[in-house]
Amino acid sequence: MVANAAGHTIRIADCATGTAIWPIDVAALFAEKYPDIKVKLYGTDISAEQFPADEKVPSNVELKVRNSLKSFSEKHHEKYDMIHVRAVALALGDGEWQGVVENLQKCLSKSLF
Ligand SMILES: C[S@@+](CC[C@H](N)C(=O)[O-])C[C@H]1O[C@@H](n2cnc3c(N)ncnc32)[C@H](O)[C@@H]1O
Repeated sequence: MVANAAGHTIRIADCATGTAIWPIDVAALFAEKYPDIKVKLYGTDISAEQFPADEKVPSNVELKVRNSLKSFSEKHHEKYDMIHVRAVALALGDGEWQGVVENLQKCLSKSLF
């Protein structure tokens, strides 16, 4: 992904982001290791309760309240180069996974830049 990124903004989403620690860490990693590569991170969660204060969120990280069980609007379709999901096993009930995966699949970019 990084090798092909020249001239492209890499868009990475984190579904059910919680405290947003993952997208914030990834933003810091890119800033340190790949300062010339543009990356935009998007964290979504069903609740903003755990989101950090605005001043702790890097400018290339955007946090939004979204229920991953519901379809994402068309403007999100095929938009993201990578979608990360971690530690939601207890949050989703039996039979809810398939719908979430289908929703997220629609949002994955079909091209590698
Ligand atoms: C254990 S936390 C994991 C947070 C984060 N992924 C991490 O690894 O640090 C589970 C998160 O899933 C979120 N969640 C539960 N149901 C959700 C849904 N339907 N859509 C989006 N987020 C949801 C919760 O609000 C919570 O923040």
